Amino acid sequence: MTETSFISKTFDISNIKEKTFISSAPSNIALVKYWGKKEGQIPTNTSLSFTLNNCLTKTELTCFRQTKPNDTVNFSVFFEGKLKEDFKPKIRTFLNRILMYMPFLRDFKFEIRTQNTFPHSSGIASSASGMAALSACLMQLEKALNPKISDAYFNKKASFIARLGSGSASRSIEGPVVIWGNHPKIKNSSDLYGIKAPFKLHPNFKDYCDSILLVDKGEKTVLSSIGHGLMNMHPFASERFKQANKHVSEIAEVLKKGDLKTFMAIVESEALTLHAMMMTSNPYFILMKPNTLKIINKIWEFRASSGLNLCFTLDAGANVHLLYPQNEKEQTQLFIKDSLLQYCENEQVINDNLGLGLQA
Ligand code: PMV
Repeated sequence: MTETSFISKTFDISNIKEKTFISSAPSNIALVKYWGKKEGQIPTNTSLSFTLNNCLTKTELTCFRQTKPNDTVNFSVFFEGKLKEDFKPKIRTFLNRILMYMPFLRDFKFEIRTQNTFPHSSGIASSASGMAALSACLMQLEKALNPKISDAYFNKKASFIARLGSGSASRSIEGPVVIWGNHPKIKNSSDLYGIKAPFKLHPNFKDYCDSILLVDKGEKTVLSSIGHGLMNMHPFASERFKQANKHVSEIAEVLKKGDLKTFMAIVESEALTLHAMMMTSNPYFILMKPNTLKIINKIWEFRASSGLNLCFTLDAGANVHLLYPQNEKEQTQLFIKDSLLQYCENEQVINDNLGLGLQA
């Protein structure tokens, strides 16, 4: 599908006078990372993620029909019940970007009320789940104005517009595995939206666990938008993009065949490569903290001595995502408690596992 196929042409605003739409969208964790983008939120390589289950943003969107269209999108935003003026610029940019695809946005005034299931300022990016939840609410509005749209179109366009809010948000609509970015070997993959991985996940990955260790809950020192931008002039960029696309092909095979050893090798290489790109950009920066490295070394020691399949990945921050199979949960969680919690702020960890995407 092309960009123009996402422009709403048929809609009847008289269907709604005042209505509230509700959606919950999960966060996701990239196994193959998106780092670098082109004009219009187009990724420079394909990425692949696990959709999470418990880390959610819940959004309520109330729409009030206006007597005449507004010049621009008119909205207010509340976070955990409190008016949040500082959330507005990012949401305004997002709404302005999607206006050409949803021209009916001018006909309403919006009240956006949002909250997360994970602690605020935990260092967990809420932009993916937040933008996905808002996009899903906006698609519910579109469906109310044009009831003919199919479920498949609903998900595609929800991902398409979520991408315009935050790239990784395009991967938070479906689950358990999502691929975003055109890839020659992945049928129907697209730079414009994420797709549910077009293969059956091996039972080894069923309900796969992700325990997120909160190493540093502070605000990010370098925003991901800046980091993506630094890939434009990066000396290793083209090799990195090739490597990511190769990793997507390889991990797709692994996820079908259930080969946990290769899974861990690709996932850890991706995490460290992401941070290596940060450390070698101009200007360079480091988002890992000393405790991030302590945890990584402990994981490697534990894996060697226990023979279990625990590996890690990292986002654009210091927190560590621990990935492990459901049937190794008991021993792994014991290890986390005894050996890793001491490296987390206030010993905080969030236990999550694979999820299926949007929840009503
Ligand atoms: O969606 P953004 O622009 O916040 O970028 C997210 C980038 C990473 O989290 C570091 C990797 C990824 O693919 O999610």
